[in-house]
Amino acid sequence: MGTENETANYKVKDIALAKEGRLKIEWAERHMPVLMSLRAKYKQKKPLKNLRIGGCLHVTKETAVLVETLRDLGAKVAWSGCNPLSTQDDIAAALAAGGISVYAWRGVSKEEYYWCIDRVIDLKPNITVDDGADLVFYLHEKRQEHMASVIGGCEETTTGIVRLKAMERAGLLKYPMMSVAEAKTKADFDNIWGTGQSTMDGILRSTNIMFAGKTIVVAGYGHVGSGIAARARGLGGNVVVTEVDPLPALTARMEGFQVMPMKEAAKVGDIFITATGCTKVITAEHAALMKDGAILCNSGHFNVEVDVASIEKISSKKREVRPNNVEYTFRSGRKVFVLAEGRLVNLASAEGHPSEVMDMSFANQLLSILSLAGRAGKKEKLDPGVYEVGWEQDALVARLKLESMEIAIDKLTAEQMKYLSSYGKGT
Ligand SMILES: NC(=O)c1ccc[n+]([C@@H]2O[C@H](COP(=O)([O-])OP(=O)(O)OC[C@H]3O[C@@H](n4cnc5c(N)ncnc54)[C@H](O)[C@@H]3O)[C@@H](O)[C@H]2O)c1
Repeated sequence: MGTENETANYKVKDIALAKEGRLKIEWAERHMPVLMSLRAKYKQKKPLKNLRIGGCLHVTKETAVLVETLRDLGAKVAWSGCNPLSTQDDIAAALAAGGISVYAWRGVSKEEYYWCIDRVIDLKPNITVDDGADLVFYLHEKRQEHMASVIGGCEETTTGIVRLKAMERAGLLKYPMMSVAEAKTKADFDNIWGTGQSTMDGILRSTNIMFAGKTIVVAGYGHVGSGIAARARGLGGNVVVTEVDPLPALTARMEGFQVMPMKEAAKVGDIFITATGCTKVITAEHAALMKDGAILCNSGHFNVEVDVASIEKISSKKREVRPNNVEYTFRSGRKVFVLAEGRLVNLASAEGHPSEVMDMSFANQLLSILSLAGRAGKKEKLDPGVYEVGWEQDALVARLKLESMEIAIDKLTAEQMKYLSSYGKGT
């Protein structure tokens, strides 16, 4: 268990790490100009005054910038991590030392994980912020007594949206959820560029292996998988893609990657990276076909994509050979290496996405929270359901990001606008 302070309402690994964490948060602030400009814009008005916000989202330096922005805009905030291995203990300590109710430490057990979420719900949040939908689901299932005070929530990732839409279809979702995950300025940047780079970072920190000359198998060619495939190729890897959807499979082929079923890919890959949001994408059956020394990892949200339990079952020996790198020896003597226990390797083995891209994701979180707060108590309150953030928000985030990069773009002239909305002028 982490170190607790009842009066200050936090539980972290070691509060003495706060100074180190604060330096990292300052580094992130410097690289998150859009979120910081929104903080500056709204700080005086305090539009989140009297609101309680509960979050369950990876405790990283970028998340800390979001959390402290919510606090500076007037909200009372409580936070937990959304994955047992993604909390950065120095960041959690810095947040706690700064007065935030944070319940998170790296390596929580399943029981501790939900204990932390329970403490966040104790705040009786008006707005929930999720990454993977564990908080919203737990609130609906186990803490219904606190549902009445919730006006809405935000979801950060694809898998969370899949779960929320399933809840909506089953008639179980009881409040509106903003799909930050599907905002263009989130999914088309964070998932692609952020996960692409940070997945390489995680693999390198756990292995320090050379990509050039190796065959990298990427399972799933959606947002995350296509970003990973591009970065792996950039490092000199020969990339093979596996898919279940003919469209992304065809795109991957047109973009120059080999495409084949996992049973074929298993025989040729050196490094395997899952990015599907699906379950049992790599099982013991595949692992048994792999070359000696194959490296397996996952960048999808949950640790279900690489079936580590089934691999353990066919192994005669298991040992940790480097941090976040476990060697499994099969009875044949062949070995495979599993990184970060099959949990998202970019956050468990490295620091997660670079701040520059989380700047856009968390600007979307903040704007979605502001939009929910603005509707509270008014007629335009949303019914339960999953909502897109809308074109205006995407356009605003993109414009602010471009401005921060000192990039100007052209403007349509009146004549061009007329042309683009007319049908009269052809050949
Ligand atoms: N690690 C991170 O920091 C991070 C960041 C963003 C998203 N994610 C997670 O990554 C996962 C993928 O997200 P996304 O936005 O790319 O989703 P997506 O829907 O854009 O892409 C997923 C792709 O996987 C394919 N797929 C599904 N099942 C498959 C299977 N069994 N074998 C091969 N391919 C399969 C789908 O056809 C689809 O093309 C989700 O779990 C998401 O929450 C993680």
